[in-house]
Amino acid sequence: MKVEVSQRPRASMQFIGSAQRFAGGTLQKRASEEYYANVENPPQSIDERRDSVATALADSAAWKFDRFVTRWVAEEIYVRALPAIEEVRSDVEEFLAAAEGKGSIELNEGIKAPAYWESGFHLAPGGWDGHDLMGAALDQMAFTYVFSTGGVGAVKTGSNMLDQRAMVAQAAPKDTYEHIVDLGAGTGRFTEAVRKTYPEARITAIELSESSVRYGHAASVEKGLDINWVRAAAETTTLEADSVDLVAAYTLLHEVPPAENQKIFNEAFRILKPGGDLVIGEIAPYDKQEPFHAVVLDWETENRGEPHWRDVLTMDAPGMLRDAGFTDIEAFGVGGGIYPWVTRARKPL
Ligand SMILES: C[S@@+](CC[C@H](N)C(=O)[O-])C[C@H]1O[C@@H](n2cnc3c(N)ncnc32)[C@H](O)[C@@H]1O
Repeated sequence: MKVEVSQRPRASMQFIGSAQRFAGGTLQKRASEEYYANVENPPQSIDERRDSVATALADSAAWKFDRFVTRWVAEEIYVRALPAIEEVRSDVEEFLAAAEGKGSIELNEGIKAPAYWESGFHLAPGGWDGHDLMGAALDQMAFTYVFSTGGVGAVKTGSNMLDQRAMVAQAAPKDTYEHIVDLGAGTGRFTEAVRKTYPEARITAIELSESSVRYGHAASVEKGLDINWVRAAAETTTLEADSVDLVAAYTLLHEVPPAENQKIFNEAFRILKPGGDLVIGEIAPYDKQEPFHAVVLDWETENRGEPHWRDVLTMDAPGMLRDAGFTDIEAFGVGGGIYPWVTRARKPL
C-alpha cells in the first residue's frame, strides 16, 4: 500500500528527510574531518572518546548543527507523521481489515510486554504502540521519507536499508531451511528479505507491537508473501522447543537491555532444532567502530531515544551466545564495511 497523503504533509516529511540527509551526509562528514584534524591519536575507551570529541569540537558549528538537526528530525518525525497518517485513517483501516490471502496473523490479545518495553523508543510518543496506526506511520512516513536513504545512526547517507537486510538474510550458512523465525520483525522489511532468500521455507515473524504486526501482515498479504505473523515477545515466543531451523533477527538487540538479550538468546536456542542456525544483523560493537563514529553512535543513548544502545554495543554478545549453549560463533561485517554487522551461531547436534 502506498498511502496518498495530501501535498502539505508529504512535503513536510520530505523536508525533514532532506534535513537528515544534509546532517548525515554533509555536516557530520565535516565534523569528522575537523575532529581528525585536531586529534591525531584518539583514545580507546568510549568515555574518553566522548570527552575527546566534546573538547576537540567544542567550537564546531558543523558538529553542533549535525547533532541539533538529528535530534530535531527524530522528534519531528512523529509530530508530522502521526497527523499525516490520521488524515488517511479510513484508507489505512480498510487496508488492514481487508488483509486476506497468503500467511496468517495471531494477535494474542492480553500478552504482557516486558517492563523495558514501556520506556519508549526513538522519541516516538508512547513508544512502539503509542498510536494505533504506529506501524503504518513508521513504514509509510518515517521509513519512506526519512530513514530509507540513511544518514542517521549506523546507516550511512546513500546506503539502501533494504539491500542491507538482504545481505544479512543471505549470510545464513545454509542454502535452504524448512522453518525460519524472524525475531522483532517490525513491519516486515527484514522478513521480506528472508522470504525472498528462502522461497521454500515456512516463515514465522515474531513481533511484540500490535500495530506493527497488523500492518506487517497486511503489507505481506498485499505483496503475496507467505508469512505467519505472531504477536509475542522474542524472549517468550510461544513456539515449540526444537522446531525451528533458522532464527534470524535484524536490529532487535539494541532495542532491548542486555539481560533481556540473554533471554532472547536462550529462547532462540530453545526453539532451534539441534544443528539449527542463528543469524543476527546489528550495529557493530563500539570496539569495531572508528573513534569519531563510535561517539556519533553513542550519542543516541541519551539523545535519540535509544536507552539500551550503549550497554548493548559494549556487551559481550559472543560470550552470551556461548552461555546460551551456542557453538560456531562468528561475527563479521557484510557489504564491504562493518554495517550491517552479522553474528552467526549454531545449536550443536
Ligand atoms: C529497529 S526495529 C527492527 C524491525 C525489523 N527487524 C527491521 O529490520 O526493520 C526493532 C523491532 O523490535 C521490536 N521489539 C522490541 N522488543 C521486542 C521484544 N522483546 N520482542 C519482540 N519484538 C520486540 C520492536 O517493536 C521493533 O519493531
